[in-house]
Amino acid sequence: MIDIGSGVDLPRKCHSMPNPTVVGFSGNFTRPSKTRGFVEQVVRDIAARNNLSASTFDIEDVGPSLGSAKWARDLDQRARDILDRVVNADVLVVGSPTYKGSYTGLFKHFFDLLDPTALRGKPVLMLATGGGERHALIVEHQLRPLFGFFEALALPTAVYATDKDFADGVLVSAAIRKRVAQAVDEASYALSRRDAGQRIAAE
Ligand SMILES: Cc1cc2nc3c(=O)[nH]c(=O)nc-3n(C[C@H](O)[C@H](O)[C@H](O)COP(=O)(O)O)c2cc1C
Repeated sequence: MIDIGSGVDLPRKCHSMPNPTVVGFSGNFTRPSKTRGFVEQVVRDIAARNNLSASTFDIEDVGPSLGSAKWARDLDQRARDILDRVVNADVLVVGSPTYKGSYTGLFKHFFDLLDPTALRGKPVLMLATGGGERHALIVEHQLRPLFGFFEALALPTAVYATDKDFADGVLVSAAIRKRVAQAVDEASYALSRRDAGQRIAAE
């Protein structure tokens, strides 16, 4: 089932979603956003391949309570619902625009509000966009250590795309699309083994 949500019609409670879910979370806070489009595209691919419910959120969806929250309990209900969706996802697709060589500050702050065990064993596919090739290793040097901290199942293939890989906000580069296909294969494999992942997370 594919249901690309924008966060607009979130249910009040989302702790017991019946279907396996893929959730995208993008660190952009301006729109239109190449990063958000990129994350949505990959979420859609994973959902279609694995028959999952899907939704994608960005910092704009989380809203203004994020910036002043010192703890998750300080978030308003809407932001809290998104946090819960991320934590409860069966597979997570994360992405951020490159800002000053790293993910955006609010992307990091969102994850700073999570319990250190919240993503343990969860398959996480990592994406980033940037203005040029120079910071392509953001996915390895910034995103991978963050999800390593959480003991998430950070997938081997992480994908970086630059402005020239998009046309009208859509990923058009054949090379990047090939890399995305490889990452989607890995996510699908991890999903097929998620019982084992959950057992690891429970240990
Ligand atoms: C404040 C700011 C800092 C940026 N820093 C970098 C950078 O260090 N390296 C880079 O490659 N691109 C940098 N960029 C360019 C963006 O990462 C790039 O255009 C990105 O794809 C924008 O994504 P979006 O369309 O989702 O906002 C920066 C852009 C802004 C606004």
